[in-house]
Amino acid sequence: MASMSGKVIPTPPDWRKRHPSTPSLANILEYNTLYEESIRSPETFWANQARDLLSFTKNFHTVHTGSLENGENAWFLGGKLNACFNCVDRHAFVNPDRVAIICEPDDPADESQTITYGDLLRQVSQAAGLLRACGVKKGDIVTIYMPMVSETIVSILACARIGAIHSVVFAGFSADALRDRIQDAESKVVITTDEGRRGGKTIQTKYLVDQAVQECPTITNVLVCKRTAGELVLTPGRDLLWGEELKKYSAYLPPVPMDSEDFLFLLYTSGSTGKPKGVLHSTAGYLLGAAVTGKYVFDVNCQDRFFCSGDIGWITGHTYVIYAPLLLGCSTVVFEGTPTYPSPTRFWDIIAKHGCTHFYGAPTALRLLKRSLTKADISGANIMSLRVLGSVGEPISPEIWRWYHDFMGDEQAVITDTYWQTETGSHIIAACAGVTPMKPGSASLPCFGIDLAIIDPVKGEELRGNSVEGVLGIKHPWPSMARTIRGSHDRYMDTYFNVYKGYYFTGDGAYRDHDGHYWIRGRVDDVINVSGHRLSTSEIESVIIEHPSIAEAAIIGVPDELTGQAINAVVSLKTTQDIESIKQQLISKVRSAIGPFAAPRRILVVEDLPKTRSGKIVRRILRKALSGETEFGDISTVRAYKQFDPSLDLLTIF
Ligand code: PRX
Repeated sequence: MASMSGKVIPTPPDWRKRHPSTPSLANILEYNTLYEESIRSPETFWANQARDLLSFTKNFHTVHTGSLENGENAWFLGGKLNACFNCVDRHAFVNPDRVAIICEPDDPADESQTITYGDLLRQVSQAAGLLRACGVKKGDIVTIYMPMVSETIVSILACARIGAIHSVVFAGFSADALRDRIQDAESKVVITTDEGRRGGKTIQTKYLVDQAVQECPTITNVLVCKRTAGELVLTPGRDLLWGEELKKYSAYLPPVPMDSEDFLFLLYTSGSTGKPKGVLHSTAGYLLGAAVTGKYVFDVNCQDRFFCSGDIGWITGHTYVIYAPLLLGCSTVVFEGTPTYPSPTRFWDIIAKHGCTHFYGAPTALRLLKRSLTKADISGANIMSLRVLGSVGEPISPEIWRWYHDFMGDEQAVITDTYWQTETGSHIIAACAGVTPMKPGSASLPCFGIDLAIIDPVKGEELRGNSVEGVLGIKHPWPSMARTIRGSHDRYMDTYFNVYKGYYFTGDGAYRDHDGHYWIRGRVDDVINVSGHRLSTSEIESVIIEHPSIAEAAIIGVPDELTGQAINAVVSLKTTQDIESIKQQLISKVRSAIGPFAAPRRILVVEDLPKTRSGKIVRRILRKALSGETEFGDISTVRAYKQFDPSLDLLTIF
């Protein structure tokens, strides 16, 4: 535990002076008082926050019903509101010329684009009109398969405006994965671009949609935004050009008041079992989580320029590219490209160009940049506008934390390491910017209303006091928790609420140090984290096992300096012929079934996988062997594990 020194880094002395207004919290005492209130009287706390940060067209009469035992939680009952109104209209009415979206294109030589709140209101109204004309009704699910462009946000908010549920599918997913998600959602409409640009490369979004929808009989329209000047083949009667169609619709379409508990969006994520889970989030509860954490964790002010580099296809992009910044009325930066194109100073260039006050990214990108950059590379960039740096998606090591703080933040910005999940909707452990004492490598303290528990994984009992380690649970419901998994409420209950009765189970291990700060240890289930992408080992295994030459397969996440974890596949074959060609076929199979980001980095061929006497694969041994460990613990009950691939020097255990 050497890295957990717990040394506290103070907030830079003039940090508060650089704030454009008054920070959302005065000091840690105010955090402590408000946190205690939020745990002692959660309903009063959340009702006050909801009234302060959201606009309801009809007030709620009941703050909360349900419990973690029965899993039927509902918040702000009786209330009516519209997510798009909260993100757009209420700011557009007061400050129509304030910039809502800044789009930074992949190629810095292309012009960036700004969209004011007034423009955004017109665009979302027109897009909502188009969706309606395509037959989309309240409660329908619209699939969005788009790169990081402004139309992605417009599409999402247009869905919300008419009460449709958006389902954004990350544009790195393959056609097969997209097809499965469209089928599961039974979408009538999919929105895409002709192509996308990323890191100087072209992404064939429309081509992939064409492949996917061949097996989606529910699809009646494909809406295509033009991003490049590439050749575009349209299917008459089905495909419509976004730009041309939009002009036909009114610049104002009234938002549809929704019940607080109506679903706002569906987002697929990976779980312990093979099939992706369609996580469903509610309207009021989700929005409140986004707004509260935006306000207190990031200390967002309406004059801020918030740059979250996460993709809109994942939860980070949903909550912190779109909902939190727009709910709080600031400007959000949508960056189409990658951290290293055309050079590793790209983030600095964007921050300087747009005067960003916040930057929020994943440690995987920071590790890459740390490797590529020297102080001289960034000496010309004026990034004094930066006030807050956020980290997300995986543990940030103290070494990278320090680099982030000293090098990227120039010791002027504060850091918040934010721990949360697709299912939690918004941060659950994070430092409140400028207030919580910063400890490099720790996600620090719980967010308001989040009552954490460290649980003994074997006894299932809560470990009280400090300096305890176990699995992380939450003891009380909170508004932005996911409400269900589409089509499988039983799976929702079994994954999160039936593991430790009375607790929400995060699936992560954690340590609470001597003064109550939390250190996230990573997943304790079959979920792995590669460059911040959450992947299910069993989902990849089920693709590999379909190959006719494969007898058995295990996917293992192996520690990797750059990507956090790297995917290794350990397989046994039915044949000893053509091993190299089988390996290549396995890689292509995973690429086309899930997407390139899920392809194994290394495939090891073994004679037999290590198994218990009852035939269960002992992944623990593989994990250790692949990480270079030689101590395997008790292996007396494990059957043979012998590697015969001569090109690799993996340990052989008998
Ligand atoms: O293991 C934790 C890790 O990412 C998982 C959630 O993944 P996903 O739903 O894709 O959401 C990622 C963005 C919120 C968690 O169960 N994780 C997320 N944030 C952190 C983290 N691990 C350590 N530190 C974090 N700050």
